[in-house]
Amino acid sequence: MKFRTLLVGLAAMFSLTAFAQQPIVIKFSHVVAHDTPKGLAADFFKKKAEELTKGRVKVEVYPNSTLYKDKEEMEALQLGAVQMLAPSLAKFGPLGVKDFEVFDLPFIFDDYNQLHKVTQGPVGKQLLAKLEPKGIKGLAFWDNGFKSFSANTPIKTPADLKGKKMRIQSSKVLEEQMRALGALPQVIGFGEVYQALQTGVVDGTENPISNLYTQKMHEVQKYLTLTEHGYLGYAVIVNKKFWDGLPADIRKELDDAMEQATRYANQIAKVENDNALEAVKKSGKTVVYTPTKEERLAFKKALVPVHQKMESRVGKDLIQSIYKETGFDPDKL
Ligand code: LMR
Repeated sequence: MKFRTLLVGLAAMFSLTAFAQQPIVIKFSHVVAHDTPKGLAADFFKKKAEELTKGRVKVEVYPNSTLYKDKEEMEALQLGAVQMLAPSLAKFGPLGVKDFEVFDLPFIFDDYNQLHKVTQGPVGKQLLAKLEPKGIKGLAFWDNGFKSFSANTPIKTPADLKGKKMRIQSSKVLEEQMRALGALPQVIGFGEVYQALQTGVVDGTENPISNLYTQKMHEVQKYLTLTEHGYLGYAVIVNKKFWDGLPADIRKELDDAMEQATRYANQIAKVENDNALEAVKKSGKTVVYTPTKEERLAFKKALVPVHQKMESRVGKDLIQSIYKETGFDPDKL
């Protein structure tokens, strides 16, 4: 009897230890290829998080919409089916957080430095806090880069996009941007863009070059014009209940891993896009055109009025606070 009790006790102890040793799993789903700024940063975070927590946390990264597509991933996060995502800032509207679409305003940032004043300053913090009532915690902003237009016909002037069906992310600001050019915006999930371009469902799109290249869009787009008319970046977000429920020491290590991953992401973003551009040029499949100063200014003049038009959607105060950080003046183009 005594021996049996001992055995049962030992078995219970073993299973408890086994349970205690089960790593905490973070499923991190995203829609881009692994060799992009976001893909590489997600892999970097996995490595750091597992290292710093000495294996108590396991991060499973699912790239390229393999686990969830654009539309589904936010819902999956809220339900707790995945723990971490890094959606583009243009994809928070359907969640009811329209403020993030301020980043989609064309020509609102001239370069990464201006952008970082916002994403790494008080405005960025306030924006991330807006996610909490949705059961989501925002951990960081990760860069991708500046978007350029591509199509199957040459693009030199805003009029060249008139009547073109252009794929956009699910942002009302981007919709308005395309309308300002006389184009016909169509929201299509990232995973379906290549096929939509190939089959002619849409005529063109906009993206940073790293996304264009890694999805092989350059193979189905004859012309790429380096307009760099808008920014595309990410908010790294977690299920708030999951995050708040983590042991404090683990959360501290994960915060540290995220800080390092953010630095890494923002360091590599420009280089990755520059390399992708070289690769697109080398492929010879797309004609890459760099607009003259005057040509780019014509796009700017056509698109900056979108800022005022979208005040009621993204908030006049928010737009003004960004102008204040960056020094942008819509009246001085
Ligand atoms: C897109 O849909 O074009 C981008 O948001 C994809 C991404 O995550 O970079």
